[in-house]
Amino acid sequence: MQAAGKLMKVFVTRRIPQEGMKILAAAEGCEVSLWDSDEPVPRAELLRGVQGAQGLLCLLSDKIDVEVLDAAGPNLKVISTLSVGFDHLALDEIKRRGIRVGYTPDVLTDATAELTVALLLATARRLPEGVEEVKNGGWSSWKPLWLCGYGLTGSTVGIIGLGRIGMAIAKRLMPFGVKRLLYFGRTAKAHAAEVNGEFVPLDTLASESDFIVVSCSLTPETQGLCDKAFFSKMKNTAVLVNSSRGVVLNQEDLYEALSSGQIAAAGMDVTTPEPLPTNHPLLTLKNCVVLPHIGSATYSTRGVMSELAARNLLGGLRGTEMPSELTF
Ligand code: NDP
Ligand code: DGY
Repeated sequence: MQAAGKLMKVFVTRRIPQEGMKILAAAEGCEVSLWDSDEPVPRAELLRGVQGAQGLLCLLSDKIDVEVLDAAGPNLKVISTLSVGFDHLALDEIKRRGIRVGYTPDVLTDATAELTVALLLATARRLPEGVEEVKNGGWSSWKPLWLCGYGLTGSTVGIIGLGRIGMAIAKRLMPFGVKRLLYFGRTAKAHAAEVNGEFVPLDTLASESDFIVVSCSLTPETQGLCDKAFFSKMKNTAVLVNSSRGVVLNQEDLYEALSSGQIAAAGMDVTTPEPLPTNHPLLTLKNCVVLPHIGSATYSTRGVMSELAARNLLGGLRGTEMPSELTF
């Protein structure tokens, strides 16, 4: 890995689980510099840290654009992101410069699907409201009409993006007694047969689903996909859940849809911006459940992601195979 006896410089933009750090620390010929914090690296520090680096290990919160690539300079060989999403990377420019990209698909699919199902149930069955009522004395007695929500049995579920995570969500939801599984994407998927999935236009998914799960990747086409027009087609009793990226939903339109009763409830693991300001209007709504982007947050998953990101980085530095290289 050594170039003319010189150490290969690597910049890691955050404290990451030790599984990955150990691999990097043990890698010969590699000089690792770390933004040693649990908080995001400030932009100026990112621009400074990446200078002259051959390898960059970054997070989804780091915008890797022309400015960062220019700051890194011509030696940058590989960018390894500790995420499956890569919408924070300026791929056209990265490709033009011949830089390889590693990411972390598959290893976080189960954890993210599990969290999405948890969020769907919490939102549909109003768990945060119930917990709050227990704490604040609002629980006076068992009341037939109190804190009722929506159940999955006999329902129609619509999934936007039946990819790795969307499929894992579908597989987990079917045993709850879901009657129909609709999905939308660019193309029909052969694997949809495993969940009797019906490939439908977006409008059909919006109007026929009792539960809608957004699990697509963020692209120019999916940005703002769920907007006023989309919400207006949804049932008043429908519940929407997003574990993809915040900007796939138009949050102003969502606020209107939730506060006017156009749709029943929404659960979001991702928002715009992140973190969502504590005075954001969506946080005033009881029928909106917001989580702080914790889809992949199990100890083991984050450990495996860290290991994979480190191995991707080393593969890129050495010019050998990367365990999960993004083809673009
Ligand atoms: P995949 O690539 O397997 O799936 C992406 C899906 O998005 C595909 O089904 C694809 O469908 C769909 N898609 C892409 N473009 C469009 C479009 N224009 N219209 C409709 N659908 C589209 O990725 P993963 O399932 O592994 O991950 C999906 C996303 O989940 C990530 O990109 C990330 O943003 C997010 N994520 C969030 C996490 C969290 O913590 N909340 C954790 C992990 C991931 P088609 O092939 O037909 O285009
Ligand atoms: C990703 O990997 O894209 C998630 O958003 C975080 O795990």
